[in-house]
Amino acid sequence: MNVALTIDNIKVEAQTGKTILEAARSVGIYIPALCSHPYLPPISILKGKAKNGIFRNGVFIKGGETDKRLEGCQLCLVEIEGREGFFRSCDEPVNEGIVIYTATMQLRQIRSDNLAKILSEHPHTCLVCPQREGCDTLSCSLDVPKNERCCQKFSNCELRKVAEYIGVKPDLFRYIPVNLPVVEQEPLFKWDYNLCINCLRCVRVCEEVRGVKALGYALVENEVTVGCIGPTLKESGCKFCGACVEVCPTGALSDKEMRGGERVSSLVPCKNACPAEIDIPKYVNLIAQKRFADALAVIRGKVPFPGVLCRVCPHPCEDVCRRKFINESINIKELKRNAAEHDKKISKQNFKITPKTGKKVAIIGSGPAGLTCGYYLSKLGHQVVIYEALSEPGGMLRVGIPKYRLPRKILDQEIEDIKRMGVEIKTNT
Ligand code: SF4
Ligand code: SF4
Ligand code: SF4
Ligand code: FES
Repeated sequence: MNVALTIDNIKVEAQTGKTILEAARSVGIYIPALCSHPYLPPISILKGKAKNGIFRNGVFIKGGETDKRLEGCQLCLVEIEGREGFFRSCDEPVNEGIVIYTATMQLRQIRSDNLAKILSEHPHTCLVCPQREGCDTLSCSLDVPKNERCCQKFSNCELRKVAEYIGVKPDLFRYIPVNLPVVEQEPLFKWDYNLCINCLRCVRVCEEVRGVKALGYALVENEVTVGCIGPTLKESGCKFCGACVEVCPTGALSDKEMRGGERVSSLVPCKNACPAEIDIPKYVNLIAQKRFADALAVIRGKVPFPGVLCRVCPHPCEDVCRRKFINESINIKELKRNAAEHDKKISKQNFKITPKTGKKVAIIGSGPAGLTCGYYLSKLGHQVVIYEALSEPGGMLRVGIPKYRLPRKILDQEIEDIKRMGVEIKTNT
């Protein structure tokens, strides 16, 4: 059921159960929010779930017994007509007929104060320095001490975006470093607690989305303090999925491999190393779900020879697999073979061919390039004829690879699949 409400004089319809923040976002009204995340439940879901202690850098930090109200960042506050006070839009449900204001003078002032509170415990030179664009963080012309400078997320953190919207007070308190642990010995991730704003996004994604519960928080001297539930991530049951790193709004949780401007190649090196750029994480995930036909469809989206590839490819993807930093690389080539051998022809029945275009294409040579070309052109609806000088199609796949590595039955099957797409192959021509 939908309810009608008004946000900043704009009529909005929203589903019952949605929050004011979600309703505002649905019509493009921006409300700054740091602890909230579109894919996560509000921070209040963790209320009452404080641990009696958490680990930071292998050291157990004892927490208090009592839980306090998890108030979050308090940046998403709004006013509701006819009601006293300010309300956290990330946690306040929509109601029929309510009238909401998101940017009154008073709200701006409170948000600015609340942001100042967050920044008093977070390095913020990068937010106010006039030379921040292009800063290498190594040398500083303002002589800001190293531990007060910007982190490796420079110019790409959510905290900065929110701070730019709200505005940073000119009389901001100086950040005094307290030298919290920086954990660098874990595989894949670095955890710098000095940059943590205790938004608990990482705890929520690990618990509510991934269902792992490797992270938690404790109330230490009544302050929310986040960490692992065991001495290390591995001992906490972490699956190293990276979801916590992905949602962290600051540089507190970061990926060691992440190189500026090379996000996909840093974080998905297998796909980057694959000469055909096959979406390896996607098909490995489908194989894990036993959806072999769907996995093969992903492979065929780039290369029409899954059965050949899983036998002859030198698998450069496995050399760069990030799992080797935890235990060992994923056996991608054998997984592909497993999918190819489970192929129940479903993916082949689902071959989608666009309507005929009436255009004709002649291809010289039925080696892997010619066959691949024919396959995709045929899928696009063109009439394809491949001319082959030898008596059998396959080119180097047939004459260059020994039979014990690539049984001819497999090659013939995959060439037959291509012919079934409508590709005509004329041999001895
Ligand atoms: S990487 Fe580990 S701690 Fe982070 S969300 Fe995944 S399982 Fe949880
Ligand atoms: S590590 Fe990041 S996501 Fe987790 S509480 Fe700290 S700032 Fe939030
Ligand atoms: S997370 Fe890093 S880049 Fe962002 S404000 Fe903090 S120190 Fe600066
Ligand atoms: S986003 Fe609502 S309290 Fe932080």
